[in-house]
Amino acid sequence: MKEYILITGASSGIGYEMAQLLAAKKINLIIVARSIHILQKMQMELSSKYNIDVKYFQVDLSDVKATQEFYEVTKVHELQVSHLVNNAGFGDYGSFLETSLEKELDMVHLNISSLMILTKLFAQDMAARKSGKIMNVASLLSFLPLPYYSVYSATKAFVLAFSETIATELADSGVVVTALCPGTVETPFHTPDMRKTNAMNTNKPMPAKDVAEAGVKLLLHGKGKKVVGFNNWFISNLPRVTPSSIMMKIKKNLASPKS
Ligand SMILES: NC(=O)c1ccc[n+]([C@@H]2O[C@H](COP(=O)([O-])OP(=O)(O)OC[C@H]3O[C@@H](n4cnc5c(N)ncnc54)[C@H](OP(=O)(O)O)[C@@H]3O)[C@@H](O)[C@H]2O)c1
Repeated sequence: MKEYILITGASSGIGYEMAQLLAAKKINLIIVARSIHILQKMQMELSSKYNIDVKYFQVDLSDVKATQEFYEVTKVHELQVSHLVNNAGFGDYGSFLETSLEKELDMVHLNISSLMILTKLFAQDMAARKSGKIMNVASLLSFLPLPYYSVYSATKAFVLAFSETIATELADSGVVVTALCPGTVETPFHTPDMRKTNAMNTNKPMPAKDVAEAGVKLLLHGKGKKVVGFNNWFISNLPRVTPSSIMMKIKKNLASPKS
């Protein structure tokens, strides 16, 4: 049976770059996002350039029912997923009293619920085969929750905690679960307000391709979690060694508009 690496959020940014890198390694892909025209174009380009099989699915993963139906479709088409990359996600910036509840619920459904659904369903198949890899895209904010990114930070704290716990549970099952933790990455993820913050102006965003390279390495050969870049690794450790009152000030400063 043909095997595939499934990437959610493959139409842009980190997911798009990971799809390019994996295709160049002649690995069959299942690419998922909402932007069907981009997926179609990727399918045509990657399959003809690398002579691989690329399937694409337009799914709104903020709809948990659609996520479950998508899994069923992969079963109907007998697509064996050897590796799952839960990459699709979005964030928002602003005072929690003013941000959109509807948008935040979509964020929770996409960043948490669908990631958990796909992990459970594909991990069960992988465990039955005693083989498989799952990489969840967390964030530097999993370690460093920032004010004005409240719901987004909390979703990414979930992703890291969830990945680490199930990685331990599945350690002897043949299924490897990892978490990729990028810092700021140059992608369309950032809203104009995010781009004005100190966090984005003091810490130069990494190119999506560099983060994707770290992701592909972690997915194919790694274990545990990977904070991408030395600066980000250093920052991720700050909360462990810094008094919380000082951390609060640092975090507030990072999340504030450029001073
Ligand atoms: N950029 C950063 O600084 C940064 C830092 C740390 C972690 N991350 C994480 O990295 C991951 C990728 O982000 P990125 O920076 O590459 O952002 P991006 O360029 O905006 O890409 C996000 C991807 O997710 C897909 N997506 C968004 N909403 C979706 C939905 N409802 N259903 C299905 N797919 C959806 C988008 O495709 P469609 O719009 O076509 O659906 C797109 O392919 C996210 O989980 C993000 O939280 C990003």
